[in-house]
This record gives sequence, structure tokens and C-alpha cells, in this order.
Amino acid sequence: MSILKVEKISKKIGKKEILHNVSLELNKGDILAFIGPNGAGKTTFIKCILGLQKINQGKILINGYDINKNFIKAIERVGCLVESPDHYMYLSGLDNLKIHARMYQNVYLEDIKQVVELVGLEDKINDKVNTYSLGMRQRLGLAISLLNSPDLLILDEPTNGLDPEGIKDLRILFKRLAKKGVGIVISSHNLRELESFCSRVCIISHGQIIEENSIEEIKKMDENKYILKVDASIQCQTYLAASDKIIDTNHIEVIKDEEEIAQFIKLLVNKNIKIYEVKKEQMSLEEVFMRKSGGDQGAKTFAKRNN
Ligand SMILES: Nc1ncnc2c1ncn2[C@@H]1O[C@H](COP(=O)(O)OP(=O)(O)OP(=O)(O)O)[C@@H](O)[C@H]1O
Ligand SMILES: [Mg+2]
Repeated sequence: MSILKVEKISKKIGKKEILHNVSLELNKGDILAFIGPNGAGKTTFIKCILGLQKINQGKILINGYDINKNFIKAIERVGCLVESPDHYMYLSGLDNLKIHARMYQNVYLEDIKQVVELVGLEDKINDKVNTYSLGMRQRLGLAISLLNSPDLLILDEPTNGLDPEGIKDLRILFKRLAKKGVGIVISSHNLRELESFCSRVCIISHGQIIEENSIEEIKKMDENKYILKVDASIQCQTYLAASDKIIDTNHIEVIKDEEEIAQFIKLLVNKNIKIYEVKKEQMSLEEVFMRKSGGDQGAKTFAKRNN
């Protein structure tokens, strides 16, 4: 059974529609990357799922319970981290956890120790939070969200401010939780950060889902940007596609997959254009997707077609 089912929800703030007809389903053990640029509606969507904002239309079911009809049951086993977590800075990490544990029945010191171990804060748990780095505070926030052993974990940009090492630790933690059957929704601007451990990807733009698929399918769309240093870029002009461009007299930028770039280089060589350098620049996957769907405007029409 799906742990989270969102059916055609819409959310208005004032006259502005922030979410439009958003649907989504998550199974136990799935890790969903919820990807979108600034202002796309990620935080609003997450707040709606958690009942922190009311929806105007549609339905949200957690563990089969409708959050509008059976909120307590629905939210019972949900853990969340929304925006940067607030902590009691002059208390230790452990004391912060104890305060939160009081909100639940049946969460004991043993459980607290277990979540501390899970997020890897054992060495620092007795230190005051104001001595923690951003990454450690984020982990403490995660530990708090895990106290009630959730079946559904909802995290709004948990990788914000983390270094690659910190992100790696989270990856291990999320994989471990997913293996236990926890369904996880993680929002981010950057799919590359999550692609190594998410199983599904959902891309939101202007409050609409423009793509929802398995990570394998999304990865198939992958393309790269290449910067070529040539003797005279003007000579390349006739061979450029609409999305390619001349940067200056010696540089061009082209967007191709691996097979296409090989063909393109061969073509230039055959036309006696000298290539001094080929530099690969990775685009973000959402950038790739936006481009394929025709940019922002394309994204909107795409969303309409899918509704
Ligand atoms: N209380 C509010 N009143 C009016 N507009 C709001 C309110 N909250 C959010 N919005 C608008 O809703 C849209 C979506 O905001 P939201 O915070 O959900 O985006 P986001 O995807 O989380 O962005 P970010 O990546 O910056 O966190 C934005 O255009 C924002 O300006
Ligand atoms: Mg946000």
C-alpha cells in the first residue's frame, strides 16, 4: 500500500494559486526527490502534507488516512524537517531530544540513543547546540524527526548547507531507513545531490508537477554542455543546433549527449576546423529537463497536457 497519496491538490494564497492539481504517490521504502527551482512550491507542498497549510482542493492520504478527516491517525507516524530546524541553542543536543520526546508516548531514553547513533551524533550529543556546525544541527533536526519511528519522513532541503561529506552521511542514513520500509520525500534544488540514492524523482515548476518518474528514466534524459575551443568559431555556425551558441571568436557551447558530441567533433574535423580543447560541463538534471520541455513556457504546456 502507498504510504503517501496526494490526489489533485490545489493551494491558493490570496488570489495566487501556489499549487495546481498536484498528484503524487509514494510507496514504503521509496525515496522521492522532490525537485524544483526557488519559488516552485516545494515548501508549500510539504506544509500541506503536514497539515501546516490548508489545501483548497484535492485529498491527502497518509497510511490510508485522510489528513482532513483523521489528522491524528494520519500524522502519527510522520517525521519531518521543514526549513532550518530551530533548536534550544543553550541546551545540549540530548536535552533537545528529550524535550521533543516528551511530545510522544512511548519514546524512551533507549529510543533517543538509537536515533543519535543513526544520525552519527554520539560524540557531540552532550555538547551545547550553539557549538554545533550547521551540518550537526541538521543532523540533530533529523534525529528529532526520527524519534517517533516514522513510516513517512518528509524533509525540506535537508542537504542545505551540508558539505559533500555531510551529504554522504545522509545518503547512508536515508538508504538505511528506506531499507527498513520508511518512505522518504526529500525536497531540493539540486537533483545531482540526491540522484545516487533516490528511487523516484518528481519535478515541480510554478506549482505544477512537470515530471514524475523513476530515477533510471530521468537519467536517460541526461545531456551535457560542452565548451569547444576552436580556431575560428564563426566557421562552426552552420553546424550549430538552436540550443548551441558561439561564445567568442574561439569558443562555442553545444549541448549534446555522448554519442552526439563524438559525431559533432568528427564533423568539425572533417570540415577542417581545428579543435584545441573540449571541456565537459554538467548541467543539472532539472535544467536538462526544462530544456527538453521547451524551457519555462514549455514546462507549463507540458503540465497542462498532463492534467
Ligand atoms: N505566505 C505566503 N503568501 C504569499 N505567497 C506565498 C506565501 N508563501 C509562499 N508564497 C509563494 O508561493 C510560491 C512557492 O513558495 P515555496 O516557498 O513553496 O517555494 P519553494 O519551492 O519552497 O522555494 P525555495 O526553493 O525558495 O524554498 C512562491 O512564489 C512564494 O512567493
Ligand atoms: Mg522552500
